[in-house]
Order: sequence, then structure tokens, then C-alpha cells
Amino acid sequence: EGPEGSGKSMQICELAEFIRQQGFEVITTREPGGTEIGDQVRQVIMRMDNTMMNPRTEILLFCAARAQIVAEVIRPNLEKGIVVISDRYADSTLAYQGYGHGLDLTVLKQILAFATGGLTPDLTLLLDVDVEEGLNRRTAGGGEWNRLDAMKLEFHQRVRSGYHEMVKTEPHRWKVIDASKAPSQVQLDLRQAILDYVRREYLE
Ligand code: TMP
Repeated sequence: EGPEGSGKSMQICELAEFIRQQGFEVITTREPGGTEIGDQVRQVIMRMDNTMMNPRTEILLFCAARAQIVAEVIRPNLEKGIVVISDRYADSTLAYQGYGHGLDLTVLKQILAFATGGLTPDLTLLLDVDVEEGLNRRTAGGGEWNRLDAMKLEFHQRVRSGYHEMVKTEPHRWKVIDASKAPSQVQLDLRQAILDYVRREYLE
């Protein structure tokens, strides 16, 4: 998880490779999207000219794409014992639509539970970066600039502090990674967080 420009998508392949080297099967997913149906939904969400989109519509679209990827990809792979690393999941909806747009968190959690069938991550890594720095990185990197990136700075600040609120309420599930460091260091910190998690959950 993380705000814009935190480098999630760049880090995820290397992280998956690291876990593979430890002898596990791994897949990565990306939201919104990651399935044929989900990718079609992603296009509707991201289109710059969909400026009229109501925040409730937006939530239901994100959750529609998520319901599909959970049923089609995440759950079947977990059932086979495969490690799943997701580039964004339900916490993105709480951060962006809940804390960012100010929609009711209790209602959102119910919608998310419906969409995911109650599937929650074992460990969530927050790639934390200053909002302005993250947005600058996105512009400088020449990456895809979508309707959601174009929201006001204060919106992104609410998203970032929303993530920190979630970390406070469920500290055992989250690990905050300082994503302002050099990418190679961020990768080492991500790997360490996974090793610490495995040690804590399975070896102690
Ligand atoms: P990304 O592919 O660069 O991570 O962009 C996805 C965008 O969608 C990003 O601005 C965050 C936003 N988003 C939400 O607002 N809610 C969600 O539930 C998800 C998955 C993403």
C-alpha cells in the first residue's frame, strides 16, 4: 500500500523474486485491474474525462474489480499455498475513498467485506512517502497520469494520514517502510519486513 509515487509497482517484482528464491511460489496482483473484467473497470475509473463520477460510483467500481480478482485470482492461489503479493487492496479504498473523500468508514468496511468475502491480508507493507515528493516523482517519471492523481494536494495528504491511522488501529498487521530512501534500500527494508513477519508468525 502507499500514496502516489511511493514506488510500490517498481518494488513488487523484485520482492516476488526474493520470495521465490526462498523456495515459495509467488504471484503478484495489481488493483484496480488484474483480471480481464477488472481491467475494463479500471479504464472507466481512470478516464480523465469521467470527471462527473460520483464517489459512491467510484467505490462500487473499485470493489467490483476487487471482487473479481479475489474470486478469480487471489483466493484460488492462496488455496494452493501460493504466496500472493497485491499492489493495493482493500486498505486503498479506506485510504482514498474513506479518509480522502470522507465517506463513512463503517459503511465502507461492510462493502469491502462483501466484495472480498472477508479475505484480509496477513501482512500489509506501507510504502510511506511525503505527498509532494510522491506526486513529483510521478510527474518526473513520465508515468501514467490519471484522474485520481489530478486531485488536490490536500486530498493526497488526507490519504497519507489515513494510512497512518490504519497502522495505529492494527499495528500487528502493518509495517511502515520509509519509501523516501533509495530504491535499493527500500527493497532491502521490504525483504527484512517479510523475514521478520515469518520469524514472528512461524518460528517463534
Ligand atoms: P496506481 O495503479 O498507480 O496504484 O493507481 C491506482 C489509483 O487508484 C491510485 O490513485 C489509488 C486509487 N485507488 C483508489 O482510490 N481506491 C482503491 O480502492 C484502489 C485500489 C485504488
